[in-house]
Amino acid sequence: MKIGNDLFKRAQKLIPGGVNSPVRAFKSVGGNPVYIKRGEGAFIYDVDGGEYMDFCASWGPLILGHARPEVVEAVKESASSGMSFGTCNPREVEMAELLNEMVPYLEMMRMVNSGTEAVMTALRLARGFTGRNKILKFEGCYHGHADYLLVAAGSGLLTGGITSSAGVAPSAVADILVAHYNDTAAVKKIFEKYGKEIAAVIVEPVAGNMGLVKPEPGFLETLREFTSDSGAILIFDEVITGFRLAATTYGKICGITPDLTTLGKIIGGGMPIGAVGGKAEIMKKLAPLGPVYQAGTLSGNPVALAAGIATLNILKKENPYPRLAKFAKKITDAVEAEAKEKSFEIHCATEGGMFTIFFTDKKPLRNLDEIKACDTAKFANFFRAMLKNGIYLSPSQFELDFISSAHTEKDIDLFIESFRKSLSR
Ligand SMILES: Cc1ncc(COP(=O)(O)O)c(C=O)c1O
Repeated sequence: MKIGNDLFKRAQKLIPGGVNSPVRAFKSVGGNPVYIKRGEGAFIYDVDGGEYMDFCASWGPLILGHARPEVVEAVKESASSGMSFGTCNPREVEMAELLNEMVPYLEMMRMVNSGTEAVMTALRLARGFTGRNKILKFEGCYHGHADYLLVAAGSGLLTGGITSSAGVAPSAVADILVAHYNDTAAVKKIFEKYGKEIAAVIVEPVAGNMGLVKPEPGFLETLREFTSDSGAILIFDEVITGFRLAATTYGKICGITPDLTTLGKIIGGGMPIGAVGGKAEIMKKLAPLGPVYQAGTLSGNPVALAAGIATLNILKKENPYPRLAKFAKKITDAVEAEAKEKSFEIHCATEGGMFTIFFTDKKPLRNLDEIKACDTAKFANFFRAMLKNGIYLSPSQFELDFISSAHTEKDIDLFIESFRKSLSR
């Protein structure tokens, strides 16, 4: 038996589904997950000798590729001085100053250990600051696994949402409003009805968790306008987009300043991390300055910060972004041309160095309803064919793929070649 299959069998006895995060189980693409033991640059290597060009990048953090020497060195150096102190440490100050320099509207920030924690803190802050309870989110956007965010649109967009996970009390989502992404008219209606009760609007400014969906012109502007008018807090969840599309946030790129921003992934360079930051008057509500409680044994961990600081400094210095976007465009053009020639209905959505290959005849895709119409069975076959051809994509139709600065032009040509072969299968 293959070593990976044996590991999966053993894992399933002790770990629910054999995995520590559900999408790793390959449920939507079939087959057994691969067990990766090593990564270097753009490639990952499994326990059975398989080699794959990686476009999942640990779900986004590894914008510099695997085991970038400067990042590894920073981690080694930090770890050898102690893993955690539970005290103040100099890297917390260095990271805060770096983030403030790269995103000046992050006037104050707090480090946490995951994107989920960052979002929980942002929403508690919004409620504590405004004294209101309701939160508006958008269907298809994912903001971590806190109870009140595991919610789907109820019947009629103006009603509260319904839970999308067992174990979430209906009362936990009673104050959550859900609208379709890009639905400016729904946002207007919701604000007409609930404006003065809304504590926060939270949105992925470029959505990634239903596959790539871009904000239509006016959508984010409308959110800014309505939140400002009603005194609600606008939160951009940039756990994916932060430092992914430029050496700053998407808010900075598009010129819309949110009140709070949540970050994760890239700012930890592959180590567990999260951060919430924004307007000082809101951030000052956090304990110990204010009444909104938040804490963490390992928050501001020096080893995670060392990896993050090294990563951000490299991004600042090297500016890989135009190259990542050029590679993504090359992939999109080749994918769509090939699909057309072979009469496949495929749309490749791209933003900077991120892309999703959708099996659909529709384009562009604007929200989750449209995305749900994609042919997931075709995607599953395609994913497995790509894997056989040495390409590791994110294992779901509803996810992003990421190009890293370790990918070369030759790698991108290889991807296109594998895509052609996979489509023929
Ligand atoms: C936009 C967004 N917010 C929050 C999260 C949650 O982050 P974490 O998995 O680090 O808890 C994710 C995770 O993918 C995300 O994509």
